[in-house]
Amino acid sequence: MAEGTQHTDDIDPVLVIIPTYNERDNLPPLVRRLHTVLPQVHVLVVDDGSPDGTGEVADKLAADDDRIHVLHRTEKAGLGAAYIAGFRWALERDYATVVEMDADGSHAPEDLPRVLDALSDADLVIGSRYVPGGALVNWPLHRQLLSRMANLYSKIALGVPVSDITAGFRAYRRGVLETLPLGAIASQGYCFQIDLTWRTDEEGFRILEVPITFTERELGQSKMSGAIIGEALVKVAQWGLHRRTEQARSLLGTLLRRVRR
Ligand code: GDD
Ligand code: MN
Repeated sequence: MAEGTQHTDDIDPVLVIIPTYNERDNLPPLVRRLHTVLPQVHVLVVDDGSPDGTGEVADKLAADDDRIHVLHRTEKAGLGAAYIAGFRWALERDYATVVEMDADGSHAPEDLPRVLDALSDADLVIGSRYVPGGALVNWPLHRQLLSRMANLYSKIALGVPVSDITAGFRAYRRGVLETLPLGAIASQGYCFQIDLTWRTDEEGFRILEVPITFTERELGQSKMSGAIIGEALVKVAQWGLHRRTEQARSLLGTLLRRVRR
């Protein structure tokens, strides 16, 4: 691992998964920045057949760098499916840590060493915009509102003690991904992040948030859509109902046992 970082050796080797859909101008400078900060990390680009040729750009990067790998998928199937494919690829190899990072520069590679350091005390570390020290740069007001609403809604529905539950900059210890039922995760859009967070919490893993600065992309376009918002609204309600029912059932069980004694 790079000199100057504090983390313990048991989190190495690290794989950074970068999902891409039409990110041809963003990907090369991002990977360069990442390897300047952390020369040892491996990168897996998961491209969904981007019409703009991002897949070929990634292949060119990989051709002369052993640290860079590319997974080509045939059609745009959403962020969730891309990450699940990337997780499986990582678990087939010996990576101890798997990082999620957007391709558009919103997640600063310079913040990653702190995210990885925090893994010494956690199983999942979330790079958070909404803990003290976290920041947003150039994010339009409507996106800020949407993100805040999504977090509030998720907190009420699921009760997971995380401030930035939709965050897409995170580091998982391998053991978490080995434990979660990857085959049962059907989330396609950004609710994938919420989905993995509550499941990680439910399994009793330790989750930590560290502050990051999220900077809005300068090139290309966000893939946020009405369908992605709709999917999140419905899914979070379903998971919330399931989780709250389970919680109530276990509370009731405890109470009944006490009464009978
Ligand atoms: N392979 C693949 N397939 N990649 C995708 C797809 C897809 O269907 N959809 C999006 N991506 C990639 C983008 O190319 C980018 O690298 C990353 O996923 C994030 O997509 P953006 O479209 O840039 O997301 P955003 O900036 O609107 O949303 C940000 O905020 C969300 C809510 O907090 C991101 O940080 C999300 O991760 C986060 O959930
Ligand atoms: Mn983005």
